[in-house]
Amino acid sequence: MGLFTKFVSQTRKPEGFLGKLMVGGMNSGHAKLADWGMSHLELKKVENIAELGCGGGRNASELLKMYAAAKLVALDYSSLSVEKTKETNKDFIKEGRCKVVQGNVMKLPFEDSSFDLATAFETVYFWPDLKQSFSQVCRVLKAGGVFMICNESDGEDKTSLKYEKIIEGMKCYTPEYLAAVLKEAGFSEVKTDHHPSKPWITVLAKK
Ligand SMILES: C[S@@+](CC[C@H](N)C(=O)[O-])C[C@H]1O[C@@H](n2cnc3c(N)ncnc32)[C@H](O)[C@@H]1O
Repeated sequence: MGLFTKFVSQTRKPEGFLGKLMVGGMNSGHAKLADWGMSHLELKKVENIAELGCGGGRNASELLKMYAAAKLVALDYSSLSVEKTKETNKDFIKEGRCKVVQGNVMKLPFEDSSFDLATAFETVYFWPDLKQSFSQVCRVLKAGGVFMICNESDGEDKTSLKYEKIIEGMKCYTPEYLAAVLKEAGFSEVKTDHHPSKPWITVLAKK
């Protein structure tokens, strides 16, 4: 495997030296996309947030700024991502508003009906079983809670499909496919949006 493939493969689960470099770059690399995604959030009363596949933790910080009365749990299965998210959110952690846990979306370590909002930026490509992981997200959301997925791939753009071929375990999805699996997993309403000039998508699913 060449160095480029080894490096981009770190997006799936950052590990070792290359993983550290990748996690460092995620916060700035995904900021514009994440801000576009967050601009879709219309929930007014948000007390508890789960940020899933949190990477470097920048989006956790932004959500905590956006919902100033909320608490957030950030989760990732990579120890490097957990470490970096803790560093990025150290002030929120001190204030008692942020917790960071190592865990897998396939079996979320949270109680049923605990969150008003769950988010997943640039990560569902790597979730091994969408229906199972989406059912887990549905389980931990309160009734009326919202799950937001934000991806820079609409499942059809050439760049991401090229990455899909070289990154083991990566799969890009169309918004229609994601909406169908979300409904199968128990969500009642799903709305999708496509960026006007980029292949970016946001999917909002209500429990
Ligand atoms: C491309 S990064 C995106 C990170 C961050 N959300 C962002 O937008 O910058 C994908 C992240 O999802 C995490 N991830 C992938 N599959 C996961 C799973 N099954 N459970 C928990 N975390 C997962 C990876 O470890 C990685 O940190």
